[in-house]
Amino acid sequence: MTPATAMAVAATVEQARAAVGVLPRPLGFVPTMGALHPGHLALVAAARAECASVVASVFVNPAQFGPGEDFERYPRDYAGDRAKLEHAGASLLFAPESGAIYPPGYSTVIDVGPMGARYEGAVRPTHFRGVATVVSKLLNVVRPDVLYVGQKDAQQTAVLRKMVRDLDVPVRVQIVPTVREDDGVALSSRNVYLTAEQRAAAPTLHAMLRAFLGRLREGASGEAAAREARPVLSPLAQLDYLDLVDADTFEPLAALRSPAFAIAAVRFGNTRLLDNIWVAR
Ligand code: PAF
Repeated sequence: MTPATAMAVAATVEQARAAVGVLPRPLGFVPTMGALHPGHLALVAAARAECASVVASVFVNPAQFGPGEDFERYPRDYAGDRAKLEHAGASLLFAPESGAIYPPGYSTVIDVGPMGARYEGAVRPTHFRGVATVVSKLLNVVRPDVLYVGQKDAQQTAVLRKMVRDLDVPVRVQIVPTVREDDGVALSSRNVYLTAEQRAAAPTLHAMLRAFLGRLREGASGEAAAREARPVLSPLAQLDYLDLVDADTFEPLAALRSPAFAIAAVRFGNTRLLDNIWVAR
């Protein structure tokens, strides 16, 4: 697919605001941390299908990485990302330097409360605060009509929907289904960290989730379903959590009801992989 016009690029808040001002509406926004894969491009495609213009951002947000996490080694490929976004038909790429988002003296944060402290938040205590803060800032710059986020990071989708609700942000949040490899592994920029052996074992994460949900559908309690599905996971992986949660609050559910997510996080060595299955209404 060849885009009709060249993609504009903005590096500062002022440049982004000026470029957004002339774009036809409705405007779709796809925030990313770069290292783009087909999962990100599915977000751009969903935005293109519904909106007259699409803005994407590439910003590896230091505020959502904890001490000792992979901020420094997080994959970066600006030239590749720019080419992919242009080819996918984005109208504008906002790619700020860290100082454009967090200038000296910056101190305000957005904390969504207990929802941000469970599951991923229990392992990464400042993560969702960093996500909510940067996305709020990006929304204030881009002022889109629709925000596109991937289902792969289910808790992030719940956190962002809550932030938008609580702060009356005038944007609709659209969740786009996870893109998977042929063997079921959810696409993630962090998959590049896996060794060949770990990558070969990675499909067992989604298989465990399917087994968990299957047992819940047969009437098993959450605890029994998790216990019975656990052996499906490769012994190369350590389980962080496997649970059923309310899709809106991310509170754990004792039995199957909808809308919900079956969620899991595992570690292959130092690499954490997340996955989930949406349980529709
Ligand atoms: O999902 C991501 O890549 C990031 O958390 C996001 C939403 C771009 C905020 O930095």
